[in-house]
Parts: sequence; C-alpha cells; structure tokens
Amino acid sequence: MISPVPVIAIDGPSASGKGTVAKLVAQKLGFHYLDSGSIYRTIAYTSHQQNISWNNEIMLIKILEKAVLSFKNDQILLNGKDVSEAIRTEEAGRGASEVAVHKKLRAAILGFQRDFEKSPGLVSEGRDMASVVFPHACMKIFLTASTQIRAERRYKQLISKGNSVNMDSVLDEIILRDERDLKREISPLLKTEDAIEIDTDTLSISDAVDKITHLYSLKSQTS
Ligand code: DC
Repeated sequence: MISPVPVIAIDGPSASGKGTVAKLVAQKLGFHYLDSGSIYRTIAYTSHQQNISWNNEIMLIKILEKAVLSFKNDQILLNGKDVSEAIRTEEAGRGASEVAVHKKLRAAILGFQRDFEKSPGLVSEGRDMASVVFPHACMKIFLTASTQIRAERRYKQLISKGNSVNMDSVLDEIILRDERDLKREISPLLKTEDAIEIDTDTLSISDAVDKITHLYSLKSQTS
C-alpha cells in the first residue's frame, strides 16, 4: 500500500527513549503523534479498576468497546477523564504488557491506531508500528539501548516522580517486560528488515531527534 501521508514508525523496548524522541520528532515536523502503548496501558488500568483480570480477553474487549479514548495535547482522556498520570505507573506498564498478548484485543485496536494516519503526517511509536500497524511507513526506526541503561533511566524517572523504588527491582521489571514483549506469539517487538536501528546508549534525546529528522529530510528529498 502506498500512503500519501508520511508515517514514521518508531519501535523499541521499554525505556529506550522512544516516547520522548517520537513526540519531539512529531513536534519538529508538525506531524500527528501516536503513543500506542498508552492504549494498552489504559485498558490495563481500567480493567484493574474494575477488578477484571488481565487474562480475561473477552472482558478486556468489552472494556475497549465501552471506552471513549482521546488524546488532547499531552493528555490522555478516558471517557473525558484525564488518565495521563494514572497509566504511567509501573503496574499499568506491567498490565499493558500482559493485556498486549491477546490476539483479538490487538485486532480490535488496529483501526483506532490507523485513524491517526492523517495529513500532514504521523509519528507513531510502540512495538509493532513498523511490522503490523503501519507496514507501509515511509521510515522505520528501531530505537534501542542496553538493558542496564534503560533500567537506570526508568529508575531516575520513577525517583523524580517521588516513587520509592530500588534499582534491582526496576532492572528485573525491564527484563521481564522485554521477555514478554519479545517472545509473545502475536505482534512481538521486532526490528523489521527495513528499519534503521538507532542505539541511544551514548546518544542524547536531542541527538536522536536530530538524526531521525535528518534521515527523514534526506528521504523526502529523494522520494
Ligand atoms: O511503550 P509502553 O511502555 O508504554 O508500552 C507498554 C506495554 O504495552 C508494552 O510493554 C507492550 C504493550 N505495547 C504493545 O504490545 N504494542 C504496542 N504497539 C505498544 C505497547
């Protein structure tokens, strides 16, 4: 499929920096932005609120059908209520990774994600942006970083938000999340053959943003 709307798909493991990078790339290019992880997080958060197990795919789909999810500036609204902070907890992240294994649930979210493909362009980030949701993306980036660095980043982020956590448990959680996201049967995290890998171990956020926007401008000059 040839899309007239440019889509930049950014995938990567948790705490690789893809959220911040993707948002800044979108701002710089004046494109729309999709944080697909927030959809899985919102489903996990809501099911937890309603005492519904993350294994109960049928009920999770029902939650999705009833939910009115919208994005307003930096806020994520669920039925009009701002859940941006509530879905950023470690628990919601773990839950998101657990609900994300369900095939029918993933299929039910596809259309919602694809609706973000609008002029003048889209930067989308997640695990299966390049492989499943936007396989026709004009540019595919796989953002990565070592497990240790990602755990340190997540640790600092949690501490700065006032959470009391220890480094070992943050590292364990990252390893567990990687394992689940990489090994699941449906739409696992993977680097597609046509993706450009960017390692952010020694690259600052702004360097990664500059690199992606530079690659994009080269690409748009030649196509
Ligand atoms: O990007 P994140 O940490 O907010 O994502 C939370 C979880 O959601 C992640 O561990 C797996 C799942 N996810 C997914 O399966 N597919 C996506 N496109 C985005 C997130």
